[in-house]
Parts: sequence; C-alpha cells; structure tokens
Amino acid sequence: MTISIAIDGPAGAGKSTIAKMLAKKLNYTYLDSGAMYRAVTLCALDKDINLANKEKLSELVKLLKIDVEYKNNEFKIYADKDDITNKIRSDEVDKNVSTIAQIKIIRDELVEKQRKIAQEKNIVMDGRDIGTRVLPNADYKFYITASVQERAIRRYKDIIKRDEESDKAFKEVKQEIDRRDKIDSNREHSPLKKAEDAIEIDTTDLTKKEVLTKILHIIKKGE
Ligand code: DC
Repeated sequence: MTISIAIDGPAGAGKSTIAKMLAKKLNYTYLDSGAMYRAVTLCALDKDINLANKEKLSELVKLLKIDVEYKNNEFKIYADKDDITNKIRSDEVDKNVSTIAQIKIIRDELVEKQRKIAQEKNIVMDGRDIGTRVLPNADYKFYITASVQERAIRRYKDIIKRDEESDKAFKEVKQEIDRRDKIDSNREHSPLKKAEDAIEIDTTDLTKKEVLTKILHIIKKGE
C-alpha cells in the first residue's frame, strides 16, 4: 500500500510550492495534476484544434502520451517524449486551460493516469479534485486557500521573476485568477471544492515555511 497526500485549492494559493516542499521532506514523489491539463491544452493549441470540438479533443487525449517525472526536487512533464515543462506555463495555456479542464472525457482519462501513478509510489498530488475524486481515500487531505488579492500578488511576482520584461499589469493577473476561480468552481464535472474530510489552511498571512510546519505537525499527529 502506498501513502498519498492530496492538496487542493484555487489557482495561485501556493499548492505546488507547498506540495513540493512536503514531498522533499517526506521523500515522496510529487505530481502536479494541473500540469496534465496544461499539457493537453498546449497540444490542442499547437495542433490548432478548436477547443469546442470535444470529439477531436477526446481523440487527442487518448492518443497523447503524457509522462511525468519527479527527480532532484524538480517536476517535469513530457508529451510524446517532448519536454514541455516550461511551455505549459505560457499565457495562451493559462487562458485556455480552464476550458479544457471542463470536458468530462479529458478529466476521465487524466484521472485514470493520476490514480495509476499514485498506486506506484508514496505521493503528494496537487490539483482541484484530488481529495474529492482522484484519491478519495487519500491518507491526508489539505485544502489550501488565500485571498484573491494575495494569490494575484504571488502570481504577479512569479510572472516578473520568469520574465522581467513582462508588460502584464497586476490588474489583469487578478482578473485572470478571478475568472479561473469562477470556471473551476462552477463547472459541472468535479468542480473545485473542499473535500469534507480535508483540513483547510488559509495561507494569506502565512509564509511557506509556516504552512509546511503546520502540515507536518498534522501528519505527525496522524490526525
Ligand atoms: O494548478 P494549475 O493552475 O496548473 O491548473 C491548471 C488548470 O487545470 C486549472 O484552471 C484547473 C485545472 N485543473 C483541474 O481541473 N483539476 C486538477 N486536478 C488540476 C487542475
């Protein structure tokens, strides 16, 4: 039996940072499930597939070989052997990924892949539906939140760090987060929702280290 820790929450709440720190500390593997939705989005955009064409998208997700790797505290994702780890963070993917993530057939395929990965190794997995759908029997479930303002600040800092010359305005980043929250929380299939048995942590006024300490404390107590 493998141990699994589910970390869900809205965009920009710091899930992946915390999940990676936790995986490192516990020597578990890490899976960024959002990266898989991003991979499908990137490939659909590259192939010029109309995002309203569910048939074509379903064909794509079935044929696409998505591989993930977590080595030396670094997460990588490949589509048909091509390393797309950086490409999936583009503005274009950001804007379209919530649309792709609404489609049931895509979710079903990716959920199956995610579950298989969790069966192989002890894992920390982050996303939107890990505690509610992908791993309902996860050993620990956390729901990480932060105010929209704080999440937008964090995202904005990330963007500037990646590209100092980015001309993206803070206001635009905040609107984008707001828009994705709405789509992710209101979609029909597996919407973003705290699992009933998940422990909620509001990270608005907490440092990453404080959040990690909190989580480790809970795990050690075996709550
Ligand atoms: O965590 P992220 O921002 O990289 O996620 C990208 C999108 O994928 C997000 O808008 C919602 C979707 N997603 C999802 O629906 N279910 C998951 N388990 C992970 C991500």
